[in-house]
Amino acid sequence: MTSPRTTLSLVDTDPAELAVDAIVIGVHSQTTEPGSGAPAHALLLATGGESIAAAFDGKLTETLALLGATGGPGEVIKLATLGTVTAPLVVAVGLGPEPSGAAPAPESLRRAAGAAVRALAGAARVALALPLPDDADAPAALRAVAEGALLGGYRFAGYKTKPQPARREPVAEVLVAVPDAADATAQAEVARAQAVAGAVRTSRDWVNTAPNELRPPAFADAVSAAAREAGLEVEVLDETALKAGGYGGILAVGQGSEAPPRLVKLTWTPEGGGNGKRVALVGKGITFDTGGISIKPAQGMWEMKSDMAGAAAVGAAMLAIAALKPSVTVTGYLPMAENMPSGASYRPGDVISMFNGKKVEVLNTDAEGRMVLADAMARACADGADYLFETSTLTGGQVIALGKRIAGVMGTPELCERVRVAGDATGEPAWPMPLPDDVRKGMESDVADISQVNAGMDRAGHMLQGGVFLREFVTDDVAWAHIDIAGPGYHSGEATGYWTKGGTGVPVRTLVHLVEDVATNG
Ligand code: BES
Ligand code: MN
Ligand code: ZN
Repeated sequence: MTSPRTTLSLVDTDPAELAVDAIVIGVHSQTTEPGSGAPAHALLLATGGESIAAAFDGKLTETLALLGATGGPGEVIKLATLGTVTAPLVVAVGLGPEPSGAAPAPESLRRAAGAAVRALAGAARVALALPLPDDADAPAALRAVAEGALLGGYRFAGYKTKPQPARREPVAEVLVAVPDAADATAQAEVARAQAVAGAVRTSRDWVNTAPNELRPPAFADAVSAAAREAGLEVEVLDETALKAGGYGGILAVGQGSEAPPRLVKLTWTPEGGGNGKRVALVGKGITFDTGGISIKPAQGMWEMKSDMAGAAAVGAAMLAIAALKPSVTVTGYLPMAENMPSGASYRPGDVISMFNGKKVEVLNTDAEGRMVLADAMARACADGADYLFETSTLTGGQVIALGKRIAGVMGTPELCERVRVAGDATGEPAWPMPLPDDVRKGMESDVADISQVNAGMDRAGHMLQGGVFLREFVTDDVAWAHIDIAGPGYHSGEATGYWTKGGTGVPVRTLVHLVEDVATNG
């Protein structure tokens, strides 16, 4: 199922003369000093909108304020131009307070571009005249605007059988106003944004697909087909190959379902081997998580169709990597299984022999993610990874600790810091968390090498238990980071900024950024 795509290009003509359905400008909220005599709140035009404001004889912000504009983040106010400029509509998007530096933070621009394009669904062609700095920050700002616009134009195709007359089509074409549309750096940013946003959209599509349509064999087929088309090397281990290879964790989780498990391996090899480093990306691919024998409550269980968001992000990031061609070898590992209760399910008390030979005592079949990830991570280490980034909708504890927007990161401290920096740069925030000794002690098993969760099922340090468990499957010489996206991987609320309801595509942009970082800096 592919959703309709939005296209994006650059223009450097006067925004007031652009023949588009709408022209988007930015506005800031400005809070003035008390006692200065000025009104407490004022609306401030952001740079980029000057020629539009001039066409309104200096009355633009005044008129927008009359229509209710405050400049708050995410606010979208539409104004008919009645012939003052070529476009019939001016759309003011709020950027929040006036920035102290030269330009708003990239994430403010990304969200504003997303909100504006989303609000303009139904229009065929729109232009964005947002504040873009003309200094060293220009590429990051343009990248943010382009990504935000392309992602705000995302809509899942869905399954409705009747036409929906009230539903407006996403914007088909976005023009971004820049000082010089022929500038090579700007052009490169647009190409990059198209590849990256395309990958984010693909990962959203996979997450939003109904779980009956994307059981492990079908998910493996969909990822393989996309990866082959992108020119990646593809290997799929089916249940027979998994048995032969000793992938006890993937098989244990998958054995309760009639749809057998898979391990999909995707490889990007740069020309001449690149910088000689190997990056492994591992993503949790539970196509549906009922909890298994330790079954989950019915309320909200449908959202567990998103329990493959990690694998979707890794698969999609690999597609972007194939397009961006970084000079580093990258292998994606996507362990896929459906966690179902049945007469064949694995059960609490089972001891599982994992890919790396360690024995794990199962206490709760709902802690299935770490079982499939452990095998895939051990395999990545056996394949000679230097860096291992793993991402998963692993624990409800991540949502309790850090909320719905910030991922939890555990692993080698230096690499965790690198993930935090990458998350900051991409607008996908991630925060380092510890791997305490006492949490590991709590996972001592009476019979096996480690319990899958705390031996008394104590939920204290719940998110950390996941990290501590996964550490056992990483060899000492490998720098690794576990990125728990239980909150940010899926958005159950109404659309906001460039996030639509459902799959978010987090952390595709972080993974791509990290791969480029390793390609450049080792
Ligand atoms: N897929 C869930 C975690 C999850 C919860 C993701 C909410 C997104 C939103 C995971 O497999 C799970 O069930 N975790 C359990 C672990 C527990 C049994 C140790 C949890 O979080 O309760
Ligand atoms: Mn679970
Ligand atoms: Zn799960």
